[in-house]
Amino acid sequence: MQDILKVAMPKGRINKQAVQLLREIGIPIPEDFDESRKLIISLPEARMEFIMAKPVDVPTLVEYGAADIGVVGKDVLMEENRNVYELLDLNIARCRMSVIGLSDWQPSLNPRVATKYPNVASQYFRERGQQVEVIKLNGSIELAPLIGLADRIVDMVETGQTLRENGLVEMEKIFDITSRLIANRVSYRMKHEQIQTICDKLQAHIAAGRL
Ligand code: PRP
Repeated sequence: MQDILKVAMPKGRINKQAVQLLREIGIPIPEDFDESRKLIISLPEARMEFIMAKPVDVPTLVEYGAADIGVVGKDVLMEENRNVYELLDLNIARCRMSVIGLSDWQPSLNPRVATKYPNVASQYFRERGQQVEVIKLNGSIELAPLIGLADRIVDMVETGQTLRENGLVEMEKIFDITSRLIANRVSYRMKHEQIQTICDKLQAHIAAGRL
């Protein structure tokens, strides 16, 4: 008899696409899944349990084994740097991490960069030998250059609409972002067959262009 596989799912922008992908490989996720406010949703017929987490917490849940596997954006993985296996690029929720500024940006003596991703931003500027002060914000990052808090930001760009509507420009792409399937290192050994089956189905499905 197989164990229950605990899956950490990100709430918010990735959720719909991740649920859709899991349905497409035959996991019978109920229709009202996205609307539910329940934080743990059991699917006994698939021997799975879904844990609805804030995206930034998914790698933590997986590292500590509270979830066996999880779906998370590459942005969060890069920022959190958790001890987990990255098993697969799910090729969903595509966007990018970029340096952004006002169109008339000029280098300043005391450059400040606002971001939700302080580790990513610090590493990026350190690698380029640029000294900047990194200011951590938790949302509406685009405000920072508009109100004089920072001269640039490091943030996610998807459609570019937020930038356009706030008169900001993308100065440099840091890396591309898609969602990834991650696994707890011990679970990957102990529940190998279950995890590998899901991973193989997803991989075949993605390779076939999700037809
Ligand atoms: C994200 C990101 C940008 C925006 C990019 O914010 O931080 O602000 O989406 O998307 P776009 O290029 O399609 O406009 P989110 O909506 O997650 O909200 P936040 O401001 O709370 O970070």
